[in-house]
Amino acid sequence: MKFPISLLYRPYRFRQPELMDTPGLNPEVHQAALQGLETIATWPGQRRPILSKILEMAASRESRRPLTLVELGAGSGHLSHWLAGQLAAHGVSAKVTPTDLTAGPGVRKLDATDGRRFPKADIFFSNLCWHHLTDPQVAASCQAMTSQASLGWLAFDLHRHFVHYYSALLILKAARLHPILASDGTKSIQQGFNRRDLSEILAAAGVNGAQIQWSFPFRWMVSWQRK
Ligand SMILES: C[S@@+](CC[C@H](N)C(=O)[O-])C[C@H]1O[C@@H](n2cnc3c(N)ncnc32)[C@H](O)[C@@H]1O
Repeated sequence: MKFPISLLYRPYRFRQPELMDTPGLNPEVHQAALQGLETIATWPGQRRPILSKILEMAASRESRRPLTLVELGAGSGHLSHWLAGQLAAHGVSAKVTPTDLTAGPGVRKLDATDGRRFPKADIFFSNLCWHHLTDPQVAASCQAMTSQASLGWLAFDLHRHFVHYYSALLILKAARLHPILASDGTKSIQQGFNRRDLSEILAAAGVNGAQIQWSFPFRWMVSWQRK
C-alpha cells in the first residue's frame, strides 16, 4: 500500500479522500492510524482546550444531574474515555458516548452528517472530524447539534495554513508514526479551515452566536452555547 504526500500546498480547501476513510482498508493499517491519533492527542494543545470548553459549558447549567455528552467522529473513542476521567476528576458526573461512522469496540455508529439520527444530549463535541466533511455537511451537522443539544456543542479542528502544512509534514515524519499519519495528516490540513470558511459555514447553517477561537497550535475551536 502507498502512503503519498503532496509537497504542493494549495491556498484553498481542497478535499481528497483520506486513506483511513477507504472502504475495506486493511484493519491493521486502520488500527495503526487510530493508534497514531491517540499518540498525537497527548501532544500539547490537542485535547485540553476541549476539556476547558466542556467544563465552561457544564458550569453554566443549573441542574446537577449527570451530563450527557456525545462525541461525533470519535475514531477509537480515546478522547471520550479521557474526558470522562477528567470530568470525574473535576467533580462533574457525566456519561460520554463516543460515536463514529465506523462502529468499533465501545464506539456506536452515527453519521455526523445525518442529523435525523442525532440523539438528544447536553453537549455534542468532535475532534478532527469536520475536515472529513464537505461544507454543506458541516453546516447540516451544526444545525442538528444546535437543535438537539440542551447546553451546546463544540468542534475542534484544523487550521489550513501553509506553515502548518509543511511543519506537520516534517513533524509527522520525524515522529516515526505509521506512514498513514503523515499522508492523511497533510491531506487533513489541506482540507482544514480558515476563519472565513468557518464563518461562511455557520452563516449557511443559520447558527447565530457561535464562537470561532484560534487555539495553539493551528487549531480552531468552534462552539455554540444555548442562552
Ligand atoms: C482524523 S479521525 C479523528 C478521530 C478522533 N476524533 C481522534 O481525535 O482521534 C476522523 C474520524 O472521523 C470519522 N468520520 C469521517 N466521516 C464521518 C462521518 N460522516 N460521520 C462520523 N464520523 C466520521 C472517521 O471515521 C474517523 O474516525
